[in-house]
Parts: sequence; C-alpha cells; structure tokens
Amino acid sequence: MPRTMLVTGGAGFIGANFVHLVLRTYPQDRVVVFDKLTYAGNLENLAEVADDPRYTFVHADICDRAAVEQAVTEHGVDTIVNFAAESHVDRSITEPDAFIKTDVNGTHTLLEVAREHGLRYHQVSTDEVYGHVADGASAEGDPLEPRSPYAASKAAGDLLVHAYHVTYGMHTTITRGTNNVGPFQYPEKVVPLFATNALEGGRLPVYGDGLQERDYQWVGDHCEAIDLVIREGVSGEAYNVGTGTSITNMAMVEVLLDTLDKSRDLIQHVEDRPGHDRRYCVDVSKIEKLGWTSRHTPREAIARTVQWYVDNPGWWEPIKSGAFREYYEKNYGSRAVLESPGA
Ligand code: NAD
Ligand code: TYD
Repeated sequence: MPRTMLVTGGAGFIGANFVHLVLRTYPQDRVVVFDKLTYAGNLENLAEVADDPRYTFVHADICDRAAVEQAVTEHGVDTIVNFAAESHVDRSITEPDAFIKTDVNGTHTLLEVAREHGLRYHQVSTDEVYGHVADGASAEGDPLEPRSPYAASKAAGDLLVHAYHVTYGMHTTITRGTNNVGPFQYPEKVVPLFATNALEGGRLPVYGDGLQERDYQWVGDHCEAIDLVIREGVSGEAYNVGTGTSITNMAMVEVLLDTLDKSRDLIQHVEDRPGHDRRYCVDVSKIEKLGWTSRHTPREAIARTVQWYVDNPGWWEPIKSGAFREYYEKNYGSRAVLESPGA
C-alpha cells in the first residue's frame, strides 16, 4: 500500500538516511519532511532528493500543533514517523530544557494530531532508555531506567506512545536503536567528531578510561529496521535495533585511527561525562523474528563511516566552524586531561 509519511526530523542524520531509503525503495510513496532546522538539521542532507516530486519540505516545530495539523491535512499524510529530537547527551547535561520541549512535549503534540486524524504513529527511540546494563542485553520488556536528561526525555516519549496505544487504541510502534554511525552525522557525536578531529590534526578526547561499551551500528541497517517495523510491526510493540554486540570506545578509536592510518598518540583521555552510562547492549531477537538482520558489525560500520568523512570534507568542514567552535569550547575547554585514566 503506498504511503504518505510525515518524517519529522528528516533533515537530521538518521531521518535523512531514512528519507533516501524510502524514496529509493518505494516508487509510489510520498515523503513530507517536517523539520525545525536546529543546529543539527541540514538541508544538504536532502539535496539529492530536493527535486523529487514525491518529496516536500516543511520548515516548522513539532511543538506547533497548528503547523503539524496543516502539514498532515494539506499533504494527505497517513503515517507519522518521529525522528525529531534533541539527541546529544552532552548538550542535555548542560542545557536540558530543549530536550523536554521537543522530546516530550513535541512527541505529545504529534500523538495528539495522529489521534485526531487516525494516523499510524512510529516513534524512533533509543537503547539509552534502558540505562546502564552491567551484563547481558536489554529486552523490550525490561524496565526503563534512563540516567541522562536525554535518555529520560526519550523514555517519556516512549511511555506517552504506549499510553496512547492503550488508551485510544492508536496504531503505534517504537524502535529502540543503538548508537548509529554513517553519512550526515553531526560531528558532535563521537565517531564523526574523532574522525574529523584526526583529519584536522587535532586530539581525540576520550572520556575517562574509554572502556565504556556501545553497539555502533550502520545507519542504513537501522533505517531498514525502522521501515520494516512501520510496515510489518505489531501495533503497541517496541523493537530493539542493533548488531547485538557492543565494543569499547577504545576499540572504536583503534578502528577509526587504523582506517585513517593515524597514530594512537592522538588519543587524549579527559575528564569523564557526569552520569556516563558504562554499557549498553540490546537483545535483537524480537526484530530478527520479524525478518531483519544487521548487515554490518560495529567495526565495519565505524570503518565505513570514517571513509565517508574522508571522502566528504565539503559536508563537514563548514559545520565545524562558527557555532560549532563555541559548543566545542564549552564542552571540552575546561575538561581536565587525565594522566592515568584507569586510576
Ligand atoms: P539529529 O540531532 O541528527 O537530528 C535531529 C533532527 O530533528 C534535526 O534535523 C533537527 O533540526 C530536528 N528537530 C529538532 N528539534 C525539532 C523540533 N522541535 N521540531 C522539528 N524538528 C526538530 O538526530 P539523529 O541522530 O538523526 O536522531 C534521530 C532520532 O533517532 C532521534 O529521535 C534520536 O533520539 C534517535 N536515535 C538516535 C541515535 C543515534 O545514534 N544518533 C540512536 C538511536 C536513536
Ligand atoms: P555519543 O556519540 O555522544 O553517544 P551516546 O553518549 O549517546 O552513546 O558518545 C558515544 C560514546 O563515546 C559514549 O560512551 C561517550 C563517548 N565519548 C567520548 O569518549 N568522547 C567524546 O568526545 C564524545 C562526544 C563521546
């Protein structure tokens, strides 16, 4: 069945990759990107589809109910896919307000419009809602124990989605993805930050001992999973998406430096992030039963991503000036450098 999707946050990293996937795969589908264009939104990410008649762009905020209503009615939307969020943990520690507004109130606004117009609703969530997992892997039924303002705002969104399904019988689905890497990721996140710092001859600020574990997955794999869940997922359910294997940040840095043929001397251990979740890992058997498998290991995903940044300086060099410099100074300027990070 051809769909018309409202893709909120579609000018960001994962949203843009998802828009490319949908327009490439489904000739009958139409996509309305609805995006506020915050510092993380970038129309360059959608330049390739700008002239596609099946694509429309709306510049607006998901907290603006009238704007969401107008987009939905004007374009005959049948499905809302919500990628729009404030998405960076470090920013949520220094400035949490925008996270509550967009990730909680914005999600609520979208759910209200979906309810009123009888639309399907998909929420793009994160494994961070489970909080730190000392061992084993988080399953979808595990308690949500978020520990950063970002994770808490995403968990609140998940709970609202669930409540709307139960209370109003709405058709909802949720995916909880692990750390994505790939083209168009804003260089505040660790892999593009470290790749571009290394390419510029700068240092790689590893938080603490660097033995925290993350499941770095290829963004294209994640987008395929979201697409499958939107089309085949059971209403009311959440699905974890990841490779199922987590690696340490030090292992990630080694793959990154080896791909660039750069020295380990670029590594600089710095003061840790407050409340830093030591380990995330998800059980992906539920989405595998739906018919999806990850195509890249974390190491393959990181190496492929680093190569994209090598090949696309025209995308990231303009971003790493201006406002980005101010952010970098604020987040890293006063962080102590650790002489013996394991101590
Ligand atoms: P991103 O920060 O790159 O992009 C977010 C996009 O949302 C931007 O285009 C921004 O302009 C837009 N936006 C922000 N506030 C908005 C608002 N109020 N109204 C309309 N648009 C708004 O984020 P991303 O990394 O692409 O993440 C997308 C989604 O996936 C988020 O919901 C995030 O929580 C989730 N997620 C991300 C990861 C990851 O590793 N990046 C992993 C799992 C889940
Ligand atoms: P990040 O990309 O911010 O994603 P998240 O915190 O949502 O998992 O960070 C990934 C990992 O890298 C996380 O353990 C924090 C660590 N990290 C650093 O060591 N240095 C950095 O400069 C950044 C941004 C992250």
